[in-house]
Amino acid sequence: MKYPKKLVIATTNSGKLKEFEKLLTSLEVEIFSLKDFPEIGEIVEDGKTFAENALLKARTVSEKTGLVSLADDSGLEVDFLEGQPGVNSARFSGIPTDDTRNNNKLLNLLGDLPLERRTARFKCAIAIVIPDKREMVVEGICEGLILKELRGEGGFGYDPLFYLPLYDQTFAQLDIEIKNKISHRGQATKKAIGILREIFSSCQDYKKML
Ligand code: IMP
Repeated sequence: MKYPKKLVIATTNSGKLKEFEKLLTSLEVEIFSLKDFPEIGEIVEDGKTFAENALLKARTVSEKTGLVSLADDSGLEVDFLEGQPGVNSARFSGIPTDDTRNNNKLLNLLGDLPLERRTARFKCAIAIVIPDKREMVVEGICEGLILKELRGEGGFGYDPLFYLPLYDQTFAQLDIEIKNKISHRGQATKKAIGILREIFSSCQDYKKML
């Protein structure tokens, strides 16, 4: 089965779109986002896992566009909080979402817990759905510790609290190129690129299909 070299990223977030465009350059596919398909509207992410949410989004978008679709879902799991905030990472402290409020809530919940018990991991699931309904999910995980205070100016979300002992830096301090290489999203994307390359590899004559 041949598919046009078009990929819809199931996001309206322009930062995330830019990140994916950069990571997927080598594929030489035409990239679209939900902004190009406003009729799809908001997709409710009510899955219990990152994989479920990513699949939900990619499936909806592929069905509605007839194109190959990619969606991701990610978040932070803290062991002391039995995996919370998990799929609720963005809205951990309520809506509208607010990174500072989320970080403060996390700090309060962990209190004075010693560093060695503040273990946590970022997880990212990327789902790819193709129009013949085949579905694939890949995951990336990055382990770290939650600090007792914010450190670093870069990044977003929980980055200033997420400490990597190997680098003696938080995600907010780490060079962006290194973060992209070792992060949950970077690892999942690397796997996704392999799958997308397979999907599109039989599309040399895709221009005839447009
Ligand atoms: P989503 O995958 O865009 O829905 O992201 C969910 C939430 O998880 C974000 O709003 C952040 O709070 C958190 N998160 C996911 N990945 C990262 C990261 O790399 N750094 C910091 N926070 C992250």
